[in-house]
Amino acid sequence: MKIERKPSTALLPTPVVLLSVAGHGKEKPNIITLAWVGTVCSTPPMLSVAIRPTRHSHGLVNAAREFVVNIPRADQVAAVDLAGVWSGVEHDKFAELGFTARPASQVAAPLIEECPLNIECVVRHQLDLGAHDLYLAEIVAVHYDEELIDSRGRLKTAALHAMAYVDGEYWSLGERLGSYGQAAKALRTGNK
Ligand SMILES: Cc1cc2nc3c(=O)[nH]c(=O)nc-3n(C[C@H](O)[C@H](O)[C@H](O)COP(=O)(O)O)c2cc1C
Repeated sequence: MKIERKPSTALLPTPVVLLSVAGHGKEKPNIITLAWVGTVCSTPPMLSVAIRPTRHSHGLVNAAREFVVNIPRADQVAAVDLAGVWSGVEHDKFAELGFTARPASQVAAPLIEECPLNIECVVRHQLDLGAHDLYLAEIVAVHYDEELIDSRGRLKTAALHAMAYVDGEYWSLGERLGSYGQAAKALRTGNK
């Protein structure tokens, strides 16, 4: 049996990220927690973020047309939650969350130094979808904490301690289940 429900944002899990954006005029650089985030193109590498026009960050992203998507570790969940409740109108989230603004290499938005992975982005398209504006942004630089990269240049995924957002809850990732193409390889080679 299945239970059918009305249409909703049921897709899961989604990433949960900290978007950092440059200040504008008298406004300080800001941080906003986002879960409506995805990879949308390989060449050029692009991602999407969806931001409600009511957010303070929406105005800052519209002004700058650039931002950084910072991937937090699971032990940064409290800061992620607070950055998703506090507004930059009342809070200096860099200072109050104990984050360091590190200059990016390609964009004016600062990286969050304490996050292990930082993705610099330039907005290429903006779509008004209804409740949210969708930004499709090109990835122009990526920064990893050096301890995340092994001697062969590969990402040590477990060391990232990434988290996911699932139906209103923050979850750490569980065990590694396998890798890309392993099932097809097993079929070809006859291995299970
Ligand atoms: C886990 C989580 C995910 C969120 N995802 C989004 C999102 O994808 N888009 C959005 O507009 N707001 C999202 N929010 C809400 C904003 O982060 C929140 O309204 C924030 O206070 C806005 O900050 P600002 O006013 O400084 O821009 C999320 C909040 C949390 C806690």
